[in-house]
Amino acid sequence: MSTSERTPVDVIKGVNGLEKVVLREVHGSSVEVYLYGAHVTSWKNEHGEELLFISSKETFKPPKPIRGGIPICFPQFSNLGPLELHGFARNRFWTFDDDPPPLPPDVTNKVFLDLILRPTQEDLKLWPHSFEYHLRVTLGPGSDLMLTSRVRNTGTDGKPFTFTFAYHTYFAVSDISEVRVEGLETLDYLDNCQKRERFTEQGDSLTFESEIDRIYLSTPTKIAVMDHEKKRTFLIRKDGLPDAVVWNPWDKKAKAMVDFGDDEYKHMLCVEAAAVENPITLKPGEEWRGRQQLSAVSTLLDS
Ligand code: BG6
Repeated sequence: MSTSERTPVDVIKGVNGLEKVVLREVHGSSVEVYLYGAHVTSWKNEHGEELLFISSKETFKPPKPIRGGIPICFPQFSNLGPLELHGFARNRFWTFDDDPPPLPPDVTNKVFLDLILRPTQEDLKLWPHSFEYHLRVTLGPGSDLMLTSRVRNTGTDGKPFTFTFAYHTYFAVSDISEVRVEGLETLDYLDNCQKRERFTEQGDSLTFESEIDRIYLSTPTKIAVMDHEKKRTFLIRKDGLPDAVVWNPWDKKAKAMVDFGDDEYKHMLCVEAAAVENPITLKPGEEWRGRQQLSAVSTLLDS
């Protein structure tokens, strides 16, 4: 059965004619996914409020990855290997997955999209491993956004392969100095700003007053990003993704990035469900599943 028969999706032309799909939920929430990178570029709640940050300087010109939304870092997170930064999945054209893995039993009333990435001959020269990457993007009731990745080793050479991964989510926040992250207290992290040295988080919760680029290790499955000014809390629930990356470039790095406004660091925070410290190894025929569920909850009544 084709994706278009299964889900009420519109395929339309986005910026620069790049194809995108818009998923809409009956209560008014929506999600936009570009086939370029299988990149979620917009997630709006039932009131039409945008929940993800996308840079005003983004030009949507392949092969540059899209700055903002939810880039998929695969098969390599950061520069931890021979590939380009964050791997190649975020700047490849994905296609509709006409033969997705079976649906979980609770999908009634949910809107979803299945995409697939297979390596081209060129990709195999860069990373000589055959794989199938199935991505399901689901918009649930209450505006929840779920991303489920299934990566399978389809190689016939008998060889395993190893990869690292992240959903590089850029949350939109009103003012970074009013944001707090809970769920990472007392954990060990690798600090990318200090040569990936290992430290232990001391504070009660994370707040932000300078550049941050850390890989928190073996985190709980639930992390909260609290935006006090907006009176909104993002909840990240993750499965199969033990680590969490926290990134904000702050002013100096922001100025150095051509696809990022000088002051935009104030309005974003990346909290990334990831598998970095212990790379995932798949033998031929094996499959890995990594899932993140994002919720945005209004805290108006709690204040
Ligand atoms: C974060 C990394 O996940 O992504 C940072 O921890 C990196 O080190 C950032 O700078 C942005 O990467 P990119 O390739 O999108 O500019």
